[in-house]
Amino acid sequence: MVLIVLVAAAGMIIGFSSPVLAITGQCVNCHTMHNSQDGASVAETYDFSTGTINPSATPLAQLLNADCVACHAGGASETEDTNSFGAPIVLHTTNPNGQGYQATLAGGDFYWVGNALGDDDATGHNVAGVSDPDTNILPLNTPPGWDPVATPGANDDGQIAGGASPSWPADQQLTCAGLYGCHGNHADADPFAAIKGAHHGNTGLTETSAVLADTIGNSYRFLSGIRGLENREWNWNETSATHNEYRGRAGNPNYQNKVTISYSCAQCHGFFHSDIGTQSPWLRHPTDVVLPASGEYNDYNPDNGGVYSIEAPVARVTNVSSSSDVVTPGVDTVMCLSCHRAHGSPEPDILRWTYADMQAGTGTDDTGCFTCHTTKNAD
Ligand code: HEC
Ligand code: HEC
Ligand code: HEC
Ligand code: HEC
Ligand code: HEC
Repeated sequence: MVLIVLVAAAGMIIGFSSPVLAITGQCVNCHTMHNSQDGASVAETYDFSTGTINPSATPLAQLLNADCVACHAGGASETEDTNSFGAPIVLHTTNPNGQGYQATLAGGDFYWVGNALGDDDATGHNVAGVSDPDTNILPLNTPPGWDPVATPGANDDGQIAGGASPSWPADQQLTCAGLYGCHGNHADADPFAAIKGAHHGNTGLTETSAVLADTIGNSYRFLSGIRGLENREWNWNETSATHNEYRGRAGNPNYQNKVTISYSCAQCHGFFHSDIGTQSPWLRHPTDVVLPASGEYNDYNPDNGGVYSIEAPVARVTNVSSSSDVVTPGVDTVMCLSCHRAHGSPEPDILRWTYADMQAGTGTDDTGCFTCHTTKNAD
């Protein structure tokens, strides 16, 4: 932790500005030419068994002075959206105390699943470098719902796990990016090769343009081919009107459309997306399906006048050009992120709310599941 504080202090002297939308600042903030300064190592890596950032005598790819986790972690003094690198924090090393608005970024946080921190496997993706494998998930390391043919994605840049059929390689843990990861292309096993060029090329999607997504850098959050609007603070100060906008689709059988956020999850959890049935009664909870403009769904988020709920959000079926608080049943869709975070949350199954609190026939708060299933509580 001492080192995180030192890096933070250095950042303040050099004068980072945050938040940033693409890479800015002096090369030396993030790169080291020889991994040596006055003879000492400069590069830093995160050690999940101790929760500390430590010097690495081994140089890192692309001459970087930190690995993915070390550069995207936030130490005790870095409790907000970005750290001294100007990087969005996805692993706070102090408890964020909740999720969402001013607690975590949109994707949630790896704090609770991190070994030396929360150490609760069910609360996040057990990504290599953040935690050890989730031994409750069987077969070990295999994504529940794994469909080998779900990839390649829209940019035709490789299949996750090489389309390993019928099962995922037994000892292969999930990685941030690449062949076994979510970000970057899926052809390169090395996460840095998979993401090469993306940071400096993060120029396509913005808060007002969701049109590109033909490179890693211009795809939604480096998720190849996925579209959406990128809130400049990664939702840190989200409101019902100011937030990321996710892409959805009105029906999406057999991965017909590969630009939606739910397809990005389906790349590993395919059957949870493709085997849902075609209409009510459904077989699995639908995603990439329109909220009916009838019945209880037509009354979406009634406690807040029907505006976009940052707790149980919806996706849009077109490339919108601004974030909006308007939700239109009959048009907007349910998605994986209506209920889950992508990285981690304080809740089991990476949920956005406490599932045990969802009790049919009692209570009048239309939160969580009741945001859409508005008639299933007591009012
Ligand atoms: C805020 C951090 C940061 C700063 C500042 C920064 N870089 Fe990078 N750079 C990265 C990261 C992270 C990667 C590796 C991941 C990637 O390619 O997306 C990278 C990759 C690269 C690459 C290889 C991939 C590519 O885009 O060609 C080059 C070359 C590079 N940087 C040069 C520079 C130079 C020159 C400067 C200063 C003018 C600079 N960088 C400043 C973070 C930074
Ligand atoms: C040296 C620091 C550094 C390293 C190492 C680094 N990043 Fe980043 N990353 C940044 C900074 C700074 C930003 C914010 C600037 C931006 O959005 O382009 C960022 C942004 C991102 C974003 C959000 C992009 C967006 O659209 O907002 C993702 C996703 C990401 N990094 C993934 C990774 C992955 C995966 C790795 C490892 C393969 C990695 N980063 C390694 C510094 C780093
Ligand atoms: C690159 C593959 C991959 C992608 C893409 C992926 N996951 Fe996962 N997911 C896994 C693996 C592997 C596991 C099981 C091990 C673990 O918990 O990390 C898992 C587990 C989960 C779990 C159960 C967590 C637990 O520990 O019980 C949830 C919920 C989940 N994923 C949701 C999502 C959502 C939502 C998305 C899209 C934002 C997504 N996943 C994208 C690979 C992936
Ligand atoms: C963002 C809105 C949204 C949220 C949040 C949501 N659902 Fe749904 N749910 C839907 C939609 C839309 C359908 C499909 C409705 C239809 O086609 O008739 C659906 C269908 C269902 C069905 C099957 C109904 C059928 O007709 O076959 C069940 C059961 C269900 N949801 C339970 C839940 C539970 C439990 C939660 C909380 C964990 C939840 N839902 C959260 C929107 C949502
Ligand atoms: C309506 C809310 C809702 C939606 C939408 C939703 N999930 Fe879930 N998911 C849950 C809940 C609740 C659980 C845990 C309890 C259960 O399975 O009934 C869960 C569990 C999971 C698990 C753990 C399964 C296991 O074997 O432990 C994974 C993985 C997962 N979801 C992925 C996804 C993906 C991927 C999508 C989109 C294709 C998705 N979910 C959409 C509510 C949802």
